[in-house]
Amino acid sequence: MIARLLIAQNPDNSSIAEAAEALRAGKLVAFPTETVYGLGGDATSDKVVAAIFAAKGRPAFNPLIIHMHEAAQFSSIVEMNSLAEELAAVFMPGPLTLVLKRQKNCPVSLLAGTGLDTLAVRVPAHSIAQALLKKAGIPVAAPSANVSGKLSATTPLHVMESLGKHLDIVLGAGRAPVGIESTVLDLSGDTPTLLRPGAVTREQIESMIGKIAVGEDNPAAPKSPGQLQSHYAPDALLRMDATGAAENEALLAFGPDFGVKGGRLRLNLSEKGDLSEAAANLFAMLRELDQPGIACIAVMPLPEQGLGIAINDRLRRAAAPR
Ligand code: TXA
Ligand code: MG
Repeated sequence: MIARLLIAQNPDNSSIAEAAEALRAGKLVAFPTETVYGLGGDATSDKVVAAIFAAKGRPAFNPLIIHMHEAAQFSSIVEMNSLAEELAAVFMPGPLTLVLKRQKNCPVSLLAGTGLDTLAVRVPAHSIAQALLKKAGIPVAAPSANVSGKLSATTPLHVMESLGKHLDIVLGAGRAPVGIESTVLDLSGDTPTLLRPGAVTREQIESMIGKIAVGEDNPAAPKSPGQLQSHYAPDALLRMDATGAAENEALLAFGPDFGVKGGRLRLNLSEKGDLSEAAANLFAMLRELDQPGIACIAVMPLPEQGLGIAINDRLRRAAAPR
């Protein structure tokens, strides 16, 4: 079986009602969010959650994010606290995921949280995701819609290519505008801890709630397996801080200075040197350069600031020893 591709031009499209009904019936539905495409399923069903892990080939110790259409719904599954309320008021809907303690009577499958006493929750800002979650009316577990450890998907075609065989529906709505996954912030312990950098930056969070720790700083924090060394990996090798590319390499440039030598294939994340544009292009361009005969993707340096921190985080993992 291969997934049906339904295109949703706008939030009133009938394809959304169909996809929402499929979610309620226990089917797997990939859908667009502002960050990347998600592989969604009914978070309250052990069977469906197990099918999500199987479809991605995801290790059973890597918990899933639970998606709802508004933060007001979270109190049915997690214990909100004052920091969570404060951040939710500003950044939700949006690319911020919070890790919080599970509610005692939380209906979400234990498998979704891989047995932890915490759960990650998020409200995607994409209008199609919003409409879908609202219509479905159930908590939706949704990891990024890619094979575990590989490049994330920012278009419906990327989802069809890598997971089409394992899904019922792919709800397509063009390119995911942000292009990299949400920021993951753990608020379940004494010290707020950044587990994955994303479009909501550390500076933005600290300006509201004061100093936060960073995952690796705090070994007591539950490890976010997004911190696994090799992740987001193309088939070709990847190296960073490139000042040129060899004949069997592809060059992924950044900025106006495209003048570095070499590379069989060449793409530029953003000629203007714009980090938002670079993030939006990142996974699609890595896919495009990841071709047979390309031994390595050589990536020019990007500034370690703002969205650049999240982009460099993904690149470092893509470049990590496999
Ligand atoms: O932007 C996104 O967050 C996308 C879209 C689809 O919403 N989703 C996504 O999911 O990136 P995934 O499964 O690829 O990444 C979820 C991250 C992983 O690093 C996971 O380890 C972490 O969130 N995570 C989930 N639950 C957690 C928990 N209870 N404690 C710590 N980390 C958790
Ligand atoms: Mg992922």
